[in-house]
Amino acid sequence: MRLTDEEKKMLDGERGEGVRKAMDMLVAMGKAFDAPRMIPVSRAHCAMSGQEGDTYWCELLVNGGATCKVVPTTNPNWDVPTLTRHYEVPADKLFLARRTDDVYRRIGAAITYCCTPELAGNVPAFGEHVAFSESSATPYVNSILGARSNRESSVSALASAVTGVTPYYGLHIDENRKGNMTVIVDTELNDAYDWGLFGWFVGLHAGTKVPVITFNKKAFSGTRPTPEELLYFTTESSTSGAMPMFHMVGITPEAPTSEAAFGKNKSELELRVTRKDLDEMERLVSDPAGKIHLVLIGCPHYTAAQLREVAELLGSRRIHESVHFWILSSWDAIELSRRSGHLEKIERGGIRVVADTCMDQPPFDQFRGKLNMTDSAKCAHYQKRRGLPFVLRRIGQCIDAAVKGEI
Ligand code: F3S
Repeated sequence: MRLTDEEKKMLDGERGEGVRKAMDMLVAMGKAFDAPRMIPVSRAHCAMSGQEGDTYWCELLVNGGATCKVVPTTNPNWDVPTLTRHYEVPADKLFLARRTDDVYRRIGAAITYCCTPELAGNVPAFGEHVAFSESSATPYVNSILGARSNRESSVSALASAVTGVTPYYGLHIDENRKGNMTVIVDTELNDAYDWGLFGWFVGLHAGTKVPVITFNKKAFSGTRPTPEELLYFTTESSTSGAMPMFHMVGITPEAPTSEAAFGKNKSELELRVTRKDLDEMERLVSDPAGKIHLVLIGCPHYTAAQLREVAELLGSRRIHESVHFWILSSWDAIELSRRSGHLEKIERGGIRVVADTCMDQPPFDQFRGKLNMTDSAKCAHYQKRRGLPFVLRRIGQCIDAAVKGEI
């Protein structure tokens, strides 16, 4: 790789051991992907999620004197004061949460603890080169916003935050952003939940391809899909598959026409999406119905509009005394919901809303082996692998089941 003088100094350790480690890692990654050089990034997002390997990497850099050139936002850890009021958490897990909090502050990150930075807090512009981790955020910034990021890990995103650069390969280059697969949607999509099932289906078939999507039926109520619908699509498609970006003809900025989206590429695969496919995806991901112990919503973090929807769907009802119901959201969406009067209505019904928290965290471990419920296929899929079975249904059904105590 050709490096600038400053990049060479970073690699030689002249800017400190922490910066050297970060640059060493990025150069190795660049060589692996045949990148000719580095390019500057103007934003970063680290999906550290309180996992020990990520915390250890951040400690290595901080202990070597590194701080961030580009201030990154951070994925959720978990809200220790709130959740330990309700659940016991082993001392080693508590220690890791505090260690993570401490080290990301020391490196100079913005402690947003939110997995939807692309909606608020860290929103790149069209054409901006960035280093984003978080599987759902990366396809969103590439496809919907037209920014440019590879699917970074929290480790490589933090290295870019420290050095200010990333290897020039993959989705930073025009031709790699063109479509190579056709998706034709032959069913109506009625809400964000449908968009999630649609995403799960496309991700299963697309793998790492870049689909070009057209709609034959009504797929959104207004002139374009809502941020929540797009968010559910990116979240689920990048969990069932590894799709780095996609085009929606007439909707996403690099696809004014199908021809523009494909460029010189030919379509290598055609996929038609019907209602039957969406129903099959629900059956594939969901566990069978029964008595519900925990309803866990907000993977990815619920927006203020979704909190408003919960308040409306719940009305004056109260959830069953045997059910725990948590909504994960971002601090700014919660504050907006509080100001708008929706949070009070939600909490009056026995539902708790918490910021800064991922579903994949120790406070929820005590629901292992019990049947739970969510509206997110990503949540159901990951939690099932950790021994927590989940029924997957749309939000209205989750609320109805929480009121009855079963589905
Ligand atoms: Fe967010 Fe954790 Fe789900 S980071 S998208 S709540 S897996």
